[in-house]
Amino acid sequence: MCGIVGYTGREQAAGILLDGLRKLEYRGYDSAGIAVRNGAEQAQVVKTLGKLDSLISLTDGGKTLMGKCGIGHTRWATHGVPSVANAHPHVSGNCRNTGNGPVESAVVGVHNGIIENYMELKEKLLTHGYMFYSETDTEVLVKLVDYYYRKYKIGPIDAINRTMVRARGSYALTLMFTDYPGEIYAARKDSPLIIGRTEDASFLASDVPAILNYTRDVYYIQNHQSARITPDSVTFFDLNGDKVVLPETHIEWDALSAEKDGYEHFMLKEIHEQPKVVSNTLKALDFQSIGLTDTVLKGIRQICITGCGSAWHVGMAAQYVIEDLASVPVRVELASEFRYRSIPFSEGTLVIVISQSGETADSLAALRKAKECGLMVLAVVNVMGSSIAREADFVLHTVAGPEISVATTKAFSAQLICMDLFAIQLGYVKGLISQEKYDFYIKEASLLPDKIQMILDDKQKLQWLSTKLAAQKSMFFIGRSLDYSICLEGSLKMKEISYIHSEAYAAGELKHGTISLIEEGTVVLGVMTEKSVLEKTYSNMVECKARGAYLVSIVSGNTGKLKEIDFNICIPDCDAVFTPSLAIVPLQLLSYYTSINRGLDVDKPRNLAKSVTVE
Ligand code: F6R
Repeated sequence: MCGIVGYTGREQAAGILLDGLRKLEYRGYDSAGIAVRNGAEQAQVVKTLGKLDSLISLTDGGKTLMGKCGIGHTRWATHGVPSVANAHPHVSGNCRNTGNGPVESAVVGVHNGIIENYMELKEKLLTHGYMFYSETDTEVLVKLVDYYYRKYKIGPIDAINRTMVRARGSYALTLMFTDYPGEIYAARKDSPLIIGRTEDASFLASDVPAILNYTRDVYYIQNHQSARITPDSVTFFDLNGDKVVLPETHIEWDALSAEKDGYEHFMLKEIHEQPKVVSNTLKALDFQSIGLTDTVLKGIRQICITGCGSAWHVGMAAQYVIEDLASVPVRVELASEFRYRSIPFSEGTLVIVISQSGETADSLAALRKAKECGLMVLAVVNVMGSSIAREADFVLHTVAGPEISVATTKAFSAQLICMDLFAIQLGYVKGLISQEKYDFYIKEASLLPDKIQMILDDKQKLQWLSTKLAAQKSMFFIGRSLDYSICLEGSLKMKEISYIHSEAYAAGELKHGTISLIEEGTVVLGVMTEKSVLEKTYSNMVECKARGAYLVSIVSGNTGKLKEIDFNICIPDCDAVFTPSLAIVPLQLLSYYTSINRGLDVDKPRNLAKSVTVE
């Protein structure tokens, strides 16, 4: 959450910073700010409340800010309400206002993450004469660096290292020191931060899309490391202040993949990219090459899948498929719960962490806990080089490209197909799937991109239905087994971007309480692609109709007459294993159009941010 950019080079910095922030706005958008230095002058700080557009217009697209070195931030509030005072950058000087303008300060900085002991540190700084204008942990962090820097008359790296020793929590910290014109300093623990280089400039960002227009050669700064960044070089240091050498990574994503490419919103673009994403992910899957050899797979006795939000829903779907095809017991745990539980795992347990960003704080903590317990960890991630990808034993890469819209769509589809293929491979290696059946599954999977395309080509009907949904106060998604996992995801999509209250229920559970919420006109959407349980779910739908519900169904292929259904959505037929990959597509489109019909900001829904790097 929150986005960080930095630039030092030969060009005017402000425009580049604003451009980078535009690409990161999906990581937080309740306030934004930049600090730019013109030569040796004090940094000029400009901060605004609300989306980035206000900062852009206040600075005339950056033209009003002279200087070739600067840092910027787009915020998702953790400590303190969204306000100009709480917006970053923060300054070390004892200013009485909001930290805007040129303020006499030795240090100015931006930060992502959470400093857990910031209150304790603040008390200490208060006793040393520091005054605070904001409620943020970031201001405390910047002032703590300033405190060590001035008290011990040490260099920036030493001051940062002392701060790292004292600060508990997670951070990607980016600083400028007045005494060091043209230089930016950075430090990191558990919050992503990359540094990009070209021949005559250096860039910093919390996420790849911010700098893709300028460079694809980047360094991933590691936990408890710091960096000194100049236009000509970048030098990394460990906690002792000793230099360390980090490998340069070349990012394969091209700049265009982080643009809207003619679509009105990133979400719509990303929904339409799914045929390509599923096909690319299928092509890239190679279990042997990532170390999941037949011997490793045969040794798996139990699986625990963990993740957050949509990634957890993928786990719910995978549970059915793995147990069905490979006969390995699977439990699915929310990463935020897993990290605090003592689960007795037996030998041969594989923990699978699913994450688009590879930086979600709870998922990362769950991974670390699994490793502490001596368990093997497989990560299914979209962002290669991310913390989760780096710390796992095995990595399956979902080749979805950058996902910008806050609500995940294409990464979800890529995760689903990865997990399906994993289940098939596991079943095959364990001798439960014959060669013939294996070939059949691979063929079925290869047909998915075209079938997804067919659903995308037939979206008018969904646009019409969404006009009805837009007027709803509340909705229910019901289904059994695999269909239930898709209900969870469909319902989350709907509520997060349309703000309509929505619940997903295993269809059999309705009668145990929830049905009391059904009233005249309530929409109940049944996902009924699984032929074996279709009739059961249909009966539950009819029970809702008897209480006044408006029924929408999603069925696969020809199911015969379901006469009580008010609106039927038919998706192409495919093997039951793969129906979630098709059933989710109309649900994504329905949420998208419902949000549009309600006049909402689809890509940046309120209170949310992409990549939840705080607990
Ligand atoms: C919902 C959504 C979130 C994420 C969740 C995990 O549309 O995007 O629920 O799925 O925050 O994020 P990652 O996959 O980055 O770990």
